Amino acid sequence: MVAERIDGKAFAAALRAKVGEHAARYAEAAGRPAGLAVVLVGEDPASQVYVRSKHKATVEAGMASFEHRLPADTEAATLLALVDQLNTDPAVDGILVQLPLPAHLDEQAVIAAISPDKDVDGFHVINAGRLSVGQPGFVPCTPLGCLMLLKDRLGDLSGLEAVVIGRSNIVGKPMAQLLTDANATVTIAHSRTRDLPAVVRRADIVVAAVGRPEMVKGDWIKPGACVIDVGINRVPAAEEGKTRLVGDVDFASAVEVAGSITPVPGGVGPMTIAVLLRNALVAAHRNAGLEAPADL
Ligand code: GUN
Repeated sequence: MVAERIDGKAFAAALRAKVGEHAARYAEAAGRPAGLAVVLVGEDPASQVYVRSKHKATVEAGMASFEHRLPADTEAATLLALVDQLNTDPAVDGILVQLPLPAHLDEQAVIAAISPDKDVDGFHVINAGRLSVGQPGFVPCTPLGCLMLLKDRLGDLSGLEAVVIGRSNIVGKPMAQLLTDANATVTIAHSRTRDLPAVVRRADIVVAAVGRPEMVKGDWIKPGACVIDVGINRVPAAEEGKTRLVGDVDFASAVEVAGSITPVPGGVGPMTIAVLLRNALVAAHRNAGLEAPADL
């Protein structure tokens, strides 16, 4: 059996188009476009690429994009003052501070300063708490995107065995919560898990989010399982001096066993920005006292 490839790129493009339609309707109803502010501190090359992509996607969806670039040696007080200004700016519905921040800045303190109702990353403890107790809030973009792909592929997740590998605040923990809320039976595996291959072999759904290149092998996968690979790892390519992107799953062996699998690149990656736009538009509706569209 060869697994069906889950086309995250196509799914993300469709979601962005849908966000664009709703964004146009929102602008009519609210008298202004929904707005997303992105803050980048320093010159980390990967972050610069992400921020540029977010800006482009925001504008393409018909939303207002406010970009703030600050030098790497920006003082905490300056960054916190900017966040405060964005919190009170009525044109700004969502705020994203690109991580990682330079080492001298306290990420938790900066996240805590963002208004929870504009925290479209879903990183604020208030939003983590809302997810935990089942109140409406904002859910981190990557795990929400994974859930969308899973539901699209599998439909009802009730009763399925899910194993999430990785326990980060950004992916693993919210992913486990979302799967639990969708009535899956969830195991969180991590670096101290005993006999990880045996644990993964139980799973109808595997979500790999550990940041270890090609760690999950095909013979760990239950035949027919749905495999979601969140990893984005750059490794040396066969050709001297070149690199290539691989996931946390050994795609070549897993594709022979799984029922469906996300490729890297082109699987989970494109979903993150699409869900960010979705979250920003939901924030705009809530902040304007409008009901967010049910199909977003
Ligand atoms: N850095 C890499 N991914 C993300 C993300 O989703 N949000 C933020 N704020 N920073 C990131």
